[in-house]
Formats: sequence, C-alpha cells, structure tokens
Amino acid sequence: ATNRTFTMIKPDAFGAGNSGAILKMIEDAGFKVVAMKATKLTPELAGKFYEVHKERPFYADLCAYMSSGPIFAAILEKDNAVEDFRKLIGATNPADAAEGTIRKIFAKSIEANAVHGSDSDENATIEGNFFFNQAERVL
Ligand code: CMP
Repeated sequence: ATNRTFTMIKPDAFGAGNSGAILKMIEDAGFKVVAMKATKLTPELAGKFYEVHKERPFYADLCAYMSSGPIFAAILEKDNAVEDFRKLIGATNPADAAEGTIRKIFAKSIEANAVHGSDSDENATIEGNFFFNQAERVL
C-alpha cells in the first residue's frame, strides 16, 4: 500500500551543497515529497529526536553533529516507503553501503552519513510528527 517515511538531509550533505542531487535521486526512485522544510536543530532537539540512542557511546557526538548546521526534513510517500527508502540510502556506515546508494555516493562517515531514513512505519509517523504539524502534512 502507499505509505510514508521520514527523512533528513543531514548537515554534512546540506553544507556540501548536495541537497538537490540527493532530492533528485529520491524523486527518480519514485518518492513524492509531501512535506519539506529547511531548519536547524538545537542540541536539545537533536537529543530528543535521537532519544532511543541515548545510552550509545556516539549519542553526545551525534547530537552535536546534528545541530551543527542546517538540515532538510521531509515526509516522503511511496508504496513500501520505509523499506524502499532504506534500500535507496544504503547501510548506516558508507563503507558498507551498496554501490549507487545515497550514502555510498554522498556520506562522509558513519556519523556524517548524508541522510536519515525511518526504520519502521511507527517511527516514520513519530518522526514526521516531530517536525511537521497537522496543517503541514495534509498533502
Ligand atoms: P541514522 O540512521 O540517522 O540513525 C542514528 C545515527 O547515529 C546514524 O544515522 C548515524 O548518523 C549515527 N551513528 C550510528 N552509528 C554510529 C556509530 N557507530 N558512530 C557514530 N555515529 C553513529
């Protein structure tokens, strides 16, 4: 069924001027952008977004990195959106990402890995609601 996922173009990719090329890959893969904004997270908001990782050794670094510069946040729609988007972006660590994936092409490191993609339908809804109010996601 047609459903949705949530993505962020992270500070490394945004700062490098790769947002347009990444968005082109996303659209060419059949995803429709149904909500999108450029914004910048505070360390506190980044910490809240990634709260599930708060016991991980990389959490403090991740919060600093994700608040280090502007990002794009977007809700995407496609059949099988969550799974298909994770295939399009590739593995978390660009060293492990398949050829032709967004992270293989654009990621700088396991942390500065160009894009985020939700890992479940439930988290896609939670994450989309974190950034977009009801009137911003009616498309
Ligand atoms: P993301 O898919 O957004 O979800 C959690 C993020 O934490 C991940 O992408 C990376 O940016 C970061 N991350 C995950 N694992 C590591 C790690 N081992 N070291 C540093 N950062 C990580």
